[in-house]
Formats: sequence, C-alpha cells, structure tokens
Amino acid sequence: MKVIVTGGAGYIGSHTIIELVSSKFTPIIIDNLCNSNISNINGIKKITGKKIKWYNKDCCNKKDMYEIFETEKNISGIIHFAAYKSVEESTKNPKKYYDNNIGSLEILLDCMNKYKVNNLVFSSSCTVYGSPDKLPVDESAFFKKAESPYAETKQLCEKVLQESSINFVSLRYFNPIGAHGSGLIGDCSSDKPANLVPIICEVANGIRENLIINGNNYNTIDGTCVRDYINIIDLAESHVSALFYLLENNQNNFFNIGTGKGLSVLQAVDAFEKANKIKINFSIGNRRIGDVEEIYSDNKKVKKILNWEAKRSIKDAMKSAWKWQLNKNNLKNYS
Ligand SMILES: NC(=O)c1ccc[n+]([C@@H]2O[C@H](COP(=O)([O-])OP(=O)(O)OC[C@H]3O[C@@H](n4cnc5c(N)ncnc54)[C@H](O)[C@@H]3O)[C@@H](O)[C@H]2O)c1
Repeated sequence: MKVIVTGGAGYIGSHTIIELVSSKFTPIIIDNLCNSNISNINGIKKITGKKIKWYNKDCCNKKDMYEIFETEKNISGIIHFAAYKSVEESTKNPKKYYDNNIGSLEILLDCMNKYKVNNLVFSSSCTVYGSPDKLPVDESAFFKKAESPYAETKQLCEKVLQESSINFVSLRYFNPIGAHGSGLIGDCSSDKPANLVPIICEVANGIRENLIINGNNYNTIDGTCVRDYINIIDLAESHVSALFYLLENNQNNFFNIGTGKGLSVLQAVDAFEKANKIKINFSIGNRRIGDVEEIYSDNKKVKKILNWEAKRSIKDAMKSAWKWQLNKNNLKNYS
C-alpha cells in the first residue's frame, strides 16, 4: 500500500519510513530538505535495502503538489510531518511558521480532496495543551492559550482538520529523543538545536561549553521543567498503528503519544550521563519564553484504541542520541 510521507527526510519522518517499510507499506517521500539533509535519505536506503521514491519539492507549492498527486495513483494514506518545529524560532519569526505549517496542510487537504485521497495522519504536538490544569494531560483537555506561535500553528491545524471532510488521526507527540540504533539516520536540523537532548550531545562532544538550563525555580520536583521524553522508535511505530486504524475505521481521532512519565531537565541530564558515562557541564540561566512548566501524557486512550504503547527505555534513547551525534557530521560530509 502506497503512503505519501511529507517531511519524510526529517527526524521523525525518516524513522517512520523504516517502520512503514517493515510493515510492508510503500512510502513515497516529499521533502525539500529545508530542515534536513540528504544523509537521512541515504541512511534509509542503507537500513531498509530499498530506494524509496523521493520528491525534492516544497509542500507549499500547489502546482508541484498537484503534479505529484497526478503522478502517484492509488494512494492509501498520507502522513504529514512537513513543518517547522522550533518553539524559540517561532517566537522571533511567527510568519515563517504560519505560512509553512498551516499553508502546507491547506494545500495537502486541497490535493486530497481533488485526487480523492482520504486518510491522513497529522503530526501534532503536546504544545496544543498549553499549560494544562491537570496532569497527566488527556486528549479531552481544553486547549489553553498557545504559549508560542509554533503551538498556535498546531492548534489551528487541528481546527482546520476538524472542519475538513478528510478522515484523519492527529498524533500529539510529547518529546521524541534518540535515533535509530544503526546511527545512520537522526535529527539533521540545519539550525542550532533547540531541544534538550541534541544540546546535551553538543556539550558532550565539546561543540558547546556547557548546557544552560532555562530556569530552576519552577514548581517541579527539582525546579527544572518536566517533559515526557519518548524513544523515537516507539514514536515512529505509532504512525503505523494510526494508519491501520484509519484504514479500518472511518473515524477521526486524536491521540497522545508519550510514555506517561515526566522527567525533569536535571533527571534527563543524569540519564544521559549514566547511559554514556560522560559528565555534562551545565549552568542555570533564565526561563525561556514559551516553555511550559510541566507536562506529561495520559496514554490510556492510545493504549486502548490504537493498542500502542511506548516500550523502549530512556537509557537506549540517550545511547542512540550520542551515537548519532558522533556519526552525523561524517554522514553529512560524505552525502
Ligand atoms: N521533534 C519534536 O520534538 C516534535 C514534537 C512535536 C511535534 N513535532 C512535529 O513533528 C513533525 C516532524 O518533526 P521533526 O522533528 O521530524 O522535524 P524535522 O524538521 O526534522 O522534519 C521536518 C521535515 O519536513 C521538511 N519540510 C518542512 N517544511 C517543508 C515543506 N514546506 N515542503 C517540504 N518539506 C518540508 C524538512 O526538510 C524536514 O525534513 C513536525 O510537524 C513537528 O512540528 C515534532
């Protein structure tokens, strides 16, 4: 079964392609590499032994998207990863985020309507909840005011989906970490990393002097922010479960994709140090605009309906994140 994967060369997309291939789907990538690198395309080929069809096109270009849909017949479903993802950058350049994140979805929905493709898995985020009143947060929680333009784009995209006639599942990811065990694919974001574990990895190999922890006066276990870190391979697998759900049910749905456990920044640093036997220098800095104090997922619904749950450890994710850090520049240079 053919599945179009926008943003399939990116961090989560590339890992999902591996899972799709092992579940006998035929993925087709649309990615203009605006926030990734061809090394992920090469890595996918090495891991799967298959050359995956790839359109190096912008999902916001309607003409190109029409051409792709015209060429590709019998598409069973679409997974839409293509978007910008930096909370911090979105506060500085909101228009870039509104244009790409909402614009790409609107064009995709237009193509789906025109070419009668009906199953969409959408990459949403736990940022849609803002600062939740109740923890763990479940899917019925009311959306609070978005803490950043990035979060606002995800809230708006979910609204656009609900108003559309498309059959969709929206996956609200918590915080993916780690990489494929081979060390051949991973997060290739071209910007300076803004997420905790890639920053820890840069400190570990000396690219940065130290990790600045943004605030230690939150009302949490040790004063640092708490997140639900999920192994990237578990996260990738959830997309296969979501696709099967869509193919079998004619029903829209929303699911949290997390482990159900919160980890503070200091606990995450400790987990990295123990997994890789490397000491991380850190200092305490100011709070960062757009950061929520504490969030972790209630995953009862996803367990019950998609029969999916996170199985892999944080330790393995910290090890694979470090392996990726050591490999990634060589892979990029030889692409
Ligand atoms: N990584 C996270 O922490 C996280 C958390 C929650 C939600 N998400 C969402 O998951 C999705 C994937 O995230 P990721 O971490 O893999 O990001 P990523 O930046 O690694 O991957 C996104 C991919 O989409 C491509 N892309 C972006 N805009 C495009 C466009 N207009 N046309 C063609 N290609 C385009 C990029 O080149 C990149 O390869 C995004 O929608 C993101 O908002 C990510």
